[in-house]
Amino acid sequence: MSESPVTILCLASYFKGTTFLRAAKAIGCRVLLVTREKLADEPWPREVIDEIFLMPDVAKQPDIIYAIAYLMRGTAVDQIVPLDDYDVLTAAALREHFRLPGLGVTHGRYFRDKLAMRTQARQIGLPVPEFTAVFNYDCLRDFMARVSPPWVLKPRAEAGAMGIKKVHNSEEVWRWLDKLGDEQSYFLLEQFVPGLVYHVDSIVSEGEVVLAVPHQYAQPPLNVAHDGGVFVTRTMRRDSADAQAILALNRQMVVGFGMARGVAHTEFIKADDGRFYFLETAARVGGANIEELVAAAAGVNLWGEWANLEAAHARGEQYIIPTDKGEYAGVLICLAREEWPDLSGYQDAEIVFRLHKKFHAGLIVASPDRDRVETLIAAYGQRFAYDFLAVAPPLDKPPE
Ligand SMILES: Nc1ncnc2c1ncn2[C@@H]1O[C@H](COP(=O)(O)OP(=O)(O)O)[C@@H](O)[C@H]1O
Ligand SMILES: [Mg+2]
Repeated sequence: MSESPVTILCLASYFKGTTFLRAAKAIGCRVLLVTREKLADEPWPREVIDEIFLMPDVAKQPDIIYAIAYLMRGTAVDQIVPLDDYDVLTAAALREHFRLPGLGVTHGRYFRDKLAMRTQARQIGLPVPEFTAVFNYDCLRDFMARVSPPWVLKPRAEAGAMGIKKVHNSEEVWRWLDKLGDEQSYFLLEQFVPGLVYHVDSIVSEGEVVLAVPHQYAQPPLNVAHDGGVFVTRTMRRDSADAQAILALNRQMVVGFGMARGVAHTEFIKADDGRFYFLETAARVGGANIEELVAAAAGVNLWGEWANLEAAHARGEQYIIPTDKGEYAGVLICLAREEWPDLSGYQDAEIVFRLHKKFHAGLIVASPDRDRVETLIAAYGQRFAYDFLAVAPPLDKPPE
């Protein structure tokens, strides 16, 4: 075991992951942050960051390789951690170049590229919606003749339902492809599988899922993104057959995708035939306050555990698996008409978190009793729609 502190270099294309930075520092790591010049004034926890490096673009090659190589002449780096989904592949490329541990490019793609994850999922026997790449037009025509619509034409590397088009016939597909031009190979076409959407947030150590919490979105995220509404998700009854089914699929995915350690946010659709289909996965903590949601239900902070995992690995120590307290939580978030909506009328003792974000209303409730969580979010969902809800058009790309 080395005496010098473990140095973790974090990449952030967006303002994210402050809990990771704090946790890494708290356990004695040296914390370096590489982020965009534009984000210099975000409220980064400067007191826990040993050095911060600003670049015009964190993802640009070979600039980022040159920059990190220059930095590494004077500072040995043990681990590279992406704080945002958009940094997962940059981190993978840097790990490959500098021969550092963690997800490399091939496996990184399984967690970032929706075509790669679909292909790999099918390979390892996970049920997936029918899909095709947008490369060869004969294959595309064959898919559209074989698989009944509606379909979704979706970007291979976006998040938050951005850029997803629901299409109903081949004419619509050709029109979109015309519009997309040279961008079309960055999309895939797949069957739209109607059903509710679920997510499993898990911690992976030594290639195994060591903690996983199953949740169900009240409405499919695409509906909320396209039609507006209150975003709601809550913990599933832990011992239900559905929860057990997606936890098992999640384990199969982690092993089959070759994740050695880290956190994963994985989604499934339950179709009308009662079967679960793998929707997507990401090697990160889920957005939309899933960090606080899981902390409320399980008593475990995913960002903090990720820091513990990386530090333990770098020190050659055993990672101490946290205990899931096995409770229940639900989150509600919506766009609000007012800049700072007044949530003072929401006072139940089960409220454990209040979102502080302009033009948003958000709450997390938690209880050992799942029925209580269900009752509260049902009532709050209706009240949110009445008290706060604003609807904005969906985005195709994240804002700059
Ligand atoms: N094949 C599909 N069938 C039905 N709904 C889908 C399908 N693909 C995506 N969706 C809907 O779009 C949402 C976003 O898609 P997803 O693949 O999870 O991408 P993102 O990274 O944007 O979350 C899903 O939560 C679901 O509501
Ligand atoms: Mg998703």
